[in-house]
Amino acid sequence: MSRLNNKHIILAISGGIAAYKSAELVRLLIKAGAKVQVVMTSGATAFITPLTLQALSGNPVHQHLLNPKAEAGMGHIQLARWADLVLIAPASANVMARLAQGQADDLLTTLCLATNAPVLIAPAMNQAMWKDQATQDNLQTLLGRNIQVHGPASGEQACGDTGSGRMLEPSQLVSVLNAQFDQGLLAGKTVVITAGPTREALDPVRFISNHSSGKMGYALAQAAKDQGATVILISGPTHLTPPEDVTFIGVNSAQDMLLACLNVGDDADVFIATAAVADYRPAKVSEQKLKKQNADDGLTLELVQNADILATMSAHYPRAITVGFAAETQDIITHAQTKLKRKNVQMIIANDVSDTRIGFNSDDNQVSLVTANGVESLPLLSKHNLARQLILAISKLSK
Ligand code: PMT
Repeated sequence: MSRLNNKHIILAISGGIAAYKSAELVRLLIKAGAKVQVVMTSGATAFITPLTLQALSGNPVHQHLLNPKAEAGMGHIQLARWADLVLIAPASANVMARLAQGQADDLLTTLCLATNAPVLIAPAMNQAMWKDQATQDNLQTLLGRNIQVHGPASGEQACGDTGSGRMLEPSQLVSVLNAQFDQGLLAGKTVVITAGPTREALDPVRFISNHSSGKMGYALAQAAKDQGATVILISGPTHLTPPEDVTFIGVNSAQDMLLACLNVGDDADVFIATAAVADYRPAKVSEQKLKKQNADDGLTLELVQNADILATMSAHYPRAITVGFAAETQDIITHAQTKLKRKNVQMIIANDVSDTRIGFNSDDNQVSLVTANGVESLPLLSKHNLARQLILAISKLSK
């Protein structure tokens, strides 16, 4: 299966004769299984029609910064969050200059500022324009900002000149994109993720638990895998099938989960605590099924505290980046900030679990990312899309 299968690619096309090759590029990306959204500058539409690219990509083409049809009119933000990768092909001298200056005066440049996804450019222009010192200075600026530059190739040009300035062929660009996902943002890293609920036994047939379905944690495991990580998923009981190619460790209680985490802690570059771990467990587990007492008698359970797995991992494995969730019902950000400090972690992902559309056992979630640097709130997203965003954000954390 192609590495591009199901990857969200934004192909941004700027004005230049090489724009005609972008149609073939879209066709090849779709054939490789990618989901493609096309963004065009007004210059690009002089060379190739949006209709051609709409037909090939299967999606409307995005041309304008302000889009009244997009949620909150901010199409660039939606696209920026949707993307796994942004490729500008062809990238004209003008686009390179505007990117180097950090301009945000059209959809393409604004999108590049707003996205967390890698941005790649495939320059195409007249050979003299490419050699010009201004373009070469802009190139250095873009490289310094981790924008990847692929090409240009040398050869005969549409204007009759010969030299460097031809856009790479569509098939070469597809290979470049494939290679991006060969490595992934977490290539070479081991990510340990806890997921699901824990069950704290009262007797052989009863337990204390919660409504966690594991959906958020399993989606994170898939997203980390997609970014090239070695993933260890430690999960309480759920009805889900673990993603392919992750190491799966099934557990029941919080104590089991802690032991499983400690066993793999040395390997962890990143530890993400998504599980809804029971804070308390019965002080005594009855060996036999508890019997009903006299009609009017209640039953008093004595509970003892479970260890905090996230805080323990953060203390025992200082090398690892540690990320926790905060399931809150009020004062969400304040409580998340307290947890960030108390558990000594790099990020807390706060969700409002009093809202039944999100949080426990829902398909969607809406979270705020709380770090020492501030708070970023994300919109309501499916847990799968959200997991992609979270893994992008987590891959940028450092200690
Ligand atoms: O599984 P789903 O149905 O998809 O639902 C997702 C979710 C709501 C479970 C998830 O988004 C979430 O919020 N997970 C954390 C739930 C929780 O226990 O939150 P907390 O605020 O009580 O704990 C804070 C953090 O400490 C969490 O990362 C938790 O995993 C961790 N913790 C808590 C207690 C404990 N003893 N050990 C821990 O590691």
